[in-house]
Amino acid sequence: MAARKVKNDVFYVGVQDWDRELFDELIPLNEGTSYNSYLIKGSQKNALIDTVDPSKKDLFIENIKSLGLTRIDYVISQHAEQDHSGSIPKVLELYPEAKVVTNQKCKEFLKSLLLIDDSKFITINDGDELSLGDKTLKFLFTPWVHWPETMSTYLKEDKILFTCDFFGSHVASTELFVGQKKDRVIEGAKRYYAEIMMPFRSSIRSNIKKVEEMKIDLIAPSHGQIYDQPDLIINAYKDWISDNVENKVTVLYLSMHGSTQKMIERLIDDLTKFDIVVEPFNLTKMDVGKLAISLVDSATAVVATPTMLVGVHPNVAYAMYLFNALRPKTKFVAIVNSYSWGGQAIEQIKGILSSFKGELLSPVTVNGYPKAEDMKAIDSLAESIFKKHKEIGIA
Ligand code: FEO
Repeated sequence: MAARKVKNDVFYVGVQDWDRELFDELIPLNEGTSYNSYLIKGSQKNALIDTVDPSKKDLFIENIKSLGLTRIDYVISQHAEQDHSGSIPKVLELYPEAKVVTNQKCKEFLKSLLLIDDSKFITINDGDELSLGDKTLKFLFTPWVHWPETMSTYLKEDKILFTCDFFGSHVASTELFVGQKKDRVIEGAKRYYAEIMMPFRSSIRSNIKKVEEMKIDLIAPSHGQIYDQPDLIINAYKDWISDNVENKVTVLYLSMHGSTQKMIERLIDDLTKFDIVVEPFNLTKMDVGKLAISLVDSATAVVATPTMLVGVHPNVAYAMYLFNALRPKTKFVAIVNSYSWGGQAIEQIKGILSSFKGELLSPVTVNGYPKAEDMKAIDSLAESIFKKHKEIGIA
């Protein structure tokens, strides 16, 4: 995709990555992704907002060159992670007059990650402004969306807020703006939020407040499409970061010989009778991104594991490690475990869940293939979950 006009001398010079299958070597990208960069032509200075993943730098440079600029004065680096910063060295090589404009923390990260010389930086503070002549950039520190140095940039005259990862979505598209195709971008944005921002949701609240106080026509993130109706993504974020949970249970399970499977099938049936939405994830073949999305608003998670190597199955341990790292707002967790002759699976799972602040419900254990009394224990677990959901007013 060549350079495209966003608004009055503001151009999109980013690149779509249609074929990328994994992000952070972890999250499947069903819709690809994009690395967005924006070129702002001022009457006196030109500024580039973020760059692209280094794997796409040649296409990116072609896009910039298609605008016929003789100089780039500023490269605004909103986030040091390489999918946005990795092509800064190439820009500095081609446009040696350019200075990297960023905050002190980001500068240190960029020097460390990309070996950019100290003399190439202009350091700014929260609220500082930078004039391009007829256009003015105002910097807004928005930490923890995704790293501690992340910031946004407001183009005052055109009311565009550039937000980097914040509000971004994993969507590759030839359509620059979200327009009416809202569901696809919200799914992609929720996938990105769940993976990298959910652990920091309390910090994100203050960032949302800052954004809501501004007059914004466009939100231009550095992944995915531009929001021409900013409320769409602001309201979605407000919901995700709130303490509200849905009448929903995420079930993470795996079965080696059918015992765990049988109990989980019964549990799903029981919960469905209570009108609770259930999202089961078989941990032998899960999409980690979908699991993370499910955890954004589930009231309860049930983890079910057979016993292997005297403990929790390694795939379940991996999923629970991820759960613990993502720190979802899940209120209740229950453990279901089957075993033949012993093991420490339940204690091991509890040990992994060191950051879980909700309530652990009584576990269900079954020795061998589930019998009538084991199924009754599952029925009781479903009833306990229903009661808990009623207590917090969602059932
Ligand atoms: Fe899209 Fe934190 O990088």
